[in-house]
Amino acid sequence: MPEGYYTSKKTDDICHDVCGQHGTPAGLSMSRLKCIILKGLDFKTYIFLFVFVPVGVFGLYLHGQKISYFLRPLWESPPKPFHEIPHYYHGNVSVESLCKLHRWGIRESPRRVFDAVLFSNEVDILTIRWKEMQPYVTHYVLLESNSTFTGIVKPLLFARNRDKFRFVESRLTYGVIGGRFKRKENPFIEEAYQRVALDELLKIAGIEDDDLLIMSDVDEIPSSHTINLLRWCNDIPPVLHLQLRNYLYSFEFFLDNKSWRASIHKYQSGKTRYAHYRQSDMLLSESGWHCSFCFRYMDEFIFKMKAYSHYDRVRFPLYLNPERIQDVICKGSDLFDMLPEEYTFKEVIGKLGPIPHSYSAVHLPAYLLNNAERFRFLLPGNCRRESG
Ligand SMILES: *[C@@H]1O[C@H](CO)[C@@H](O)[C@H](O)[C@H]1NC(C)=O
Ligand SMILES: *[C@@H]1O[C@H](CO)[C@@H](O)[C@H](O)[C@H]1NC(C)=O
Ligand SMILES: *[C@@H]1O[C@H](CO)[C@@H](O)[C@H](O)[C@H]1NC(C)=O
Repeated sequence: MPEGYYTSKKTDDICHDVCGQHGTPAGLSMSRLKCIILKGLDFKTYIFLFVFVPVGVFGLYLHGQKISYFLRPLWESPPKPFHEIPHYYHGNVSVESLCKLHRWGIRESPRRVFDAVLFSNEVDILTIRWKEMQPYVTHYVLLESNSTFTGIVKPLLFARNRDKFRFVESRLTYGVIGGRFKRKENPFIEEAYQRVALDELLKIAGIEDDDLLIMSDVDEIPSSHTINLLRWCNDIPPVLHLQLRNYLYSFEFFLDNKSWRASIHKYQSGKTRYAHYRQSDMLLSESGWHCSFCFRYMDEFIFKMKAYSHYDRVRFPLYLNPERIQDVICKGSDLFDMLPEEYTFKEVIGKLGPIPHSYSAVHLPAYLLNNAERFRFLLPGNCRRESG
């Protein structure tokens, strides 16, 4: 093969020329590139191609979501701010004075109040919710499906635990709906389907115009004094979002005051639709608590992670490992290893890392503090979870 030998010999010579510092400095990098191409791949290039490129691609695979969240302030601008209504409250101030402070009138008799939720598996938080609202709720409405939003078969957990909720039995309308079990469908479609069914259940429960309707997830708990204020005052906005304090795993990890999805409506038949997105610009300050992933048992965490509408966030089976979950809960870090969803770099950076521990258990739901032993896992200093 004289021909081939000759060619490669020649390129070696060129490379020797170039790589051996004979070229002018300006031409050097260009020549080096030529050299690489001509000579084939030199050692550094191999390292680059077979080490740095795969590591980079793997890093992107692991952290791509993080990078996109970090850069979110660049590609998404914040929604229009709410008009935040000041909220006045003290246990020793009469409802009449409170209505006046809000510049609302007072009614002759309070409105009826309906609390309607879609239930998945939040048995403990549902207990605290219903007990908190108990004095002021006329009627409880709960709908349960045998499918999670992500289309996984789910046992009817409320039915199974119904004897724990005897205290609402006379005021409860309970409905069951069959899942559609469509494979690979967007979970928000199943969720919307269940919310429509909840509208029907509300009619069955006997809701009428001007009754108050609370639309919120089970873990978004309006404080009882907030409900009392709104049922007694005239002239309240027809649709009012509730600003809740955001907690994660328990009341030990206070995140921020930014929960706003819960809302309270003066019901209008034919018009009011059960929803969990923004429906008005009005937001009542400090109206309760939102305790996300506030579960007693490890299995409930795992179930919720799978059932979650953001199931795509469970990118690796490792995320569902109980030891890892326990570790994350005690640290106040993120179950899905995600970055904070914020709209400015200042806020993203301010929230990086685990949530600081809070040792305040002041102004929490009364039923929780009156039954502290039973709900110890929700109070500061009790992050260990039982497996069952
Ligand atoms: C509430 O009112 C009562 C009677 O007026 C008074 O004795 C009590 O000190 C008040 N409590 C607070 C916390 O202000
Ligand atoms: C879900 O519930 C519906 C209606 O109650 C029932 O027809 C269906 O068989 C159930 N599906 C499963 C998988 O349990
Ligand atoms: C949340 O609201 C409470 C009460 O209004 C306030 O004391 C606290 O500083 C707020 N916290 C944050 C992080 O905004």
